[in-house]
Amino acid sequence: MAELNGKRLVLGVTGGIAAYKAAELARLFVKDGAEVNAVLTQSGAQFVTPATFQALTGKPAWSDLWDARMPDSMAHIDLSRGADVVVVAPASADFLAKLAHGLADDLLSTLCLARDCPLLVAPAMNRQMWENPATRRNISQLLQDGVIVLGPASGDQACGEIGMGRMLEAMELHDAVTGFFQPKMLARRRVMITAGPTFEALDAVRGLTNLSSGKMGFALARAVRDAGAEVTLVCGPVTQSTPAGVTRFDVTSTQEMHAAVMQRVAACDIFIGVAAVADYRPAETMRDKIKKDDKPMQIALVPNPDILAEVAARPGAPFCVGFAAESRDLEKYAEGKRQKKNLALVVGNLVQDGLGGDGNSVILFDEQGKHPLGPAPKIEIARGIVAHIGQMLAGDGRE
Ligand code: C5P
Repeated sequence: MAELNGKRLVLGVTGGIAAYKAAELARLFVKDGAEVNAVLTQSGAQFVTPATFQALTGKPAWSDLWDARMPDSMAHIDLSRGADVVVVAPASADFLAKLAHGLADDLLSTLCLARDCPLLVAPAMNRQMWENPATRRNISQLLQDGVIVLGPASGDQACGEIGMGRMLEAMELHDAVTGFFQPKMLARRRVMITAGPTFEALDAVRGLTNLSSGKMGFALARAVRDAGAEVTLVCGPVTQSTPAGVTRFDVTSTQEMHAAVMQRVAACDIFIGVAAVADYRPAETMRDKIKKDDKPMQIALVPNPDILAEVAARPGAPFCVGFAAESRDLEKYAEGKRQKKNLALVVGNLVQDGLGGDGNSVILFDEQGKHPLGPAPKIEIARGIVAHIGQMLAGDGRE
């Protein structure tokens, strides 16, 4: 994965215990291809040392406005010029107050004021400090000024209290920054996605399910969110964590998934069925555990509703995208499904290429023909699908 290839980031670290997470964040940025210049405030350097960031980024870490290592002694200008983004994580209450008022009395605050690129901040502080009217005022000023505020989250705090003010985890911040760089091709669209397997109960402990991990559906939820859309995710039993900002509804059976989708689908512009929905369910679910005996057993199955086909057949249906996981004859089956279910787009893949893994290789089928994507990590495949949907919608002038 190299989603930040060629990007130049300034990572600002201010004084808060969450500074230890900034070291992990620097590592994730670098691993993902970014060039990172770390800038620590004096109090930031009380929590983590410049040497840590120097080792992780492979570049000197900066703290001093008068650093003689800069040939022209203008670190505040030189570090921000050419940067694609400045990310301050953690951003303390004090630093946010300085930003809101345009104060510039150390390298990081001066650099932020002198920058000509976007600024992202990840607040981290005690819950009382976060809720204090002064901080509320500063945050709303920063939002008005176009600063992007990431988090904070709610939870256990280092001081022993519980509440809002925890800095987002390094992985969440990394995702937010990669998302920030994505073109907003689906801005203001409302998108519903189904993901994961379904589980059709047979008795109190057993059921019919499949090997879908939900990874592709969750990658798509992230990519669609990053493209500027509002995302509702309806998913079967999976262990994936919900991308920030995505509204998630958990279901178990196909009938529950069907009900959850039908209740909300009228409000969406795009519907993407990624879920590996069970085509059949047991005709009867036993309340108790079925007991074994020596005789062969037969289980009667009845067909499940086809959620995607039903959505696509609605009057004023949303733009519908289906997935076709096939074990053979991919083109024939995928294009056949597109026509039969009346879908704008079908994403076809061979099960041996995608199921359960982190990567995938797919072919997009639409009215124009077929478009191969990958092999690539699922998030890259997802971004490619989003770009294709964006182009199709721009082409047919749908608003
Ligand atoms: O017909 P098939 O199951 O292969 O079609 C796959 C596509 O249809 C996927 O997009 C899947 O999410 C959707 N589907 C559905 N409801 C079903 C069966 C499939 O939404 N009962």
